[in-house]
Amino acid sequence: GEEPVIICETKAALRAARADLAGSVGFVPTMGFLHEGHMSLVRAAKAECDRFAVSIFVNPTQFGPNEDLASYPRDLPRDLAMLEAEGVDLVFTPGPEEIYSGGDVTVDPGRLGRILTGELRPGHFGGVATVVTKLFNLVRPDRAYFGEKDYQQLTLIRAMVADLDMGLEIRGMPTVREADGLAMSSRNVRLTPEHRAEAPVLNRALDTAEAAGLRPVAELARIIRDVLDGQQVEAVDIRDARTLTEVAGVPDAPVVALLAVRFGTVLLIDQRVIS
Ligand code: PAJ
Repeated sequence: GEEPVIICETKAALRAARADLAGSVGFVPTMGFLHEGHMSLVRAAKAECDRFAVSIFVNPTQFGPNEDLASYPRDLPRDLAMLEAEGVDLVFTPGPEEIYSGGDVTVDPGRLGRILTGELRPGHFGGVATVVTKLFNLVRPDRAYFGEKDYQQLTLIRAMVADLDMGLEIRGMPTVREADGLAMSSRNVRLTPEHRAEAPVLNRALDTAEAAGLRPVAELARIIRDVLDGQQVEAVDIRDARTLTEVAGVPDAPVVALLAVRFGTVLLIDQRVIS
């Protein structure tokens, strides 16, 4: 739009500013330290909706006690400049005390919250489902935009919106990569130069699996593990691409390969749908 961006730190200010937005509203929830992956979601919201809003909130409830909440990278002035350059209408930048005001009612993410990453990070997807629900209730968007990079998160949000009849459209967007294939992530800045040079191996492993096509899942996992040989592999999972349930034998529907590889203290994830 032509109007200047409105930056809200409180729920009350956000609700008031939202009420003044006419037409369809797109929404991109983020934890900030924006990169081209986030900006691809922002541009999709801008292209598809009359108005669009972005939240920047490092959500404490989705971090485990030994995870990187305190050291999560932040640069609010730079984030705001990037969003203003795209013509964002509304940016919500609350602090944790503004979002969480003492209650203990939360959203149970169900099976999709317990499997895969949910097993490695207990409580993570409950924190995601709860904060995303709160953000949806505050922003009341017509469409919300999520990256396929966080494939289990996208699958969970789609299921939550359907199961709880939230009545908005979830748009999943392709993973944006660096020139060498590394999926963009706010955490990439914490890689050492040596690990940064090795990290594109995730994308190479996924390219190899994609080229192999729909093979028995054990064979696909073997192909991926061969490319990842020598790396600190935390997970190679091949699941049904829609439900994330286990697949036996030769898949008869698209599968998704979900990788998690550790580089020093940084856990990188990447995924590819194989069909
Ligand atoms: P964050 O990690 O900041 O990511 C915000 C959105 O950007 C997510 O939907 C994520 O999948 C997407 N994204 C990240 N890297 C991407 C890439 N390389 N290409 C395309 N999209 C990418 O995900 C979260 O924040 C939080 O869990 C949140 C949903 C905001 C809830 O706190």
